[in-house]
Amino acid sequence: MIADVVVDLQYGDCGKGKVSHHLCKTNKYTHVIRYNGGCNAGHTIYHNGEKFVTHHIPCGVFFGIKSIIGPGCVVNVTQFLSEIQELKSKGVNTNGLIYVASNAHIITDFHLAQDSRDTDIGTTKRGNGPAYRDKYSRKGMRAIDVPELEEYIVDMYHELHENTEYREVSILFEGAQGFGLDIDWGDYPFVTSSHCTVGGAILNGVPPKSIRDIWGVAKIYETYVGAKTFEGTDEAFPEIRRIGDEFGATTGRPRQVNWMDFDLLQKAININGSNKVVINKMDILDKVGKWRLYSGLNLFEFENSEDMQLWISEMLEDKGVEVVFSRHKDRI
Ligand code: IMP
Ligand code: MG
Repeated sequence: MIADVVVDLQYGDCGKGKVSHHLCKTNKYTHVIRYNGGCNAGHTIYHNGEKFVTHHIPCGVFFGIKSIIGPGCVVNVTQFLSEIQELKSKGVNTNGLIYVASNAHIITDFHLAQDSRDTDIGTTKRGNGPAYRDKYSRKGMRAIDVPELEEYIVDMYHELHENTEYREVSILFEGAQGFGLDIDWGDYPFVTSSHCTVGGAILNGVPPKSIRDIWGVAKIYETYVGAKTFEGTDEAFPEIRRIGDEFGATTGRPRQVNWMDFDLLQKAININGSNKVVINKMDILDKVGKWRLYSGLNLFEFENSEDMQLWISEMLEDKGVEVVFSRHKDRI
């Protein structure tokens, strides 16, 4: 068994969808598995020139690869079924490709109602926190117990370890949210309720030694959505938001902007063990014409894009990490 993992190194919305889409195009995966989160996530994907925003369904489906919502996820059944309908209506073949792990948990109307009252954390109000709470208090409902999901249910152990259909199982794990929102490593309590690191991927039923590449995805600046104050005072931030189109894919909320925190990036790379890092949206800073980042207690300023890229590359490549810079409009 081989597994590559796509993890977000910041606060979500760094372009995991784009990286996953690219990896599906260039590798022969048998499965793409979403390993954490619920429909709080919004993955924006451009496929054959058309824009798709998926919340639950992993991007393997665009390439005819089995796409599974793993046991680390929580599922809103109505949203899941409507996403399948939307993909079908846009001509994507979903037949026999989309599955939900039997032991994934369900987001109920009760969870939605409770989350809709949140004001402290600034959640996406998609019922995520209450669904995980009930999972861990052992009062949750699992996918296997939902009649509407019957045709989509998969037993993960059988599928990954006993299914003789595959000579070798080759998985792409697609994470949701990001390191700064991780329940354990993020800025608690301003976090989501699931495991967003590579550890969360392994919980979905694969042995640690199957992991091959760990693709860390970041942006050249940071964004965050939620209740805490995150944005600094630089006049570049509103401009970055506008040019970078930094509005939530799930809720439409404006994302708060700040310069890259290089220490956080390094911490996320170290904890995830990322051997490859993609840094997206370089062209947005180029348009704004300011190249800055925080490192230690200092705000570093670079003359131009090349200097900034060189500094980051040298710092990370020293540690054996391969770095790729990408532009918003690139198909890497
Ligand atoms: P929840 O996951 O809806 O409970 O929200 C908890 C925190 O995570 C809030 O600050 C949300 O804005 C943030 N969050 C959840 N999902 C995403 C995402 O996909 N992108 C960015 N932020 C997210
Ligand atoms: Mg997103």
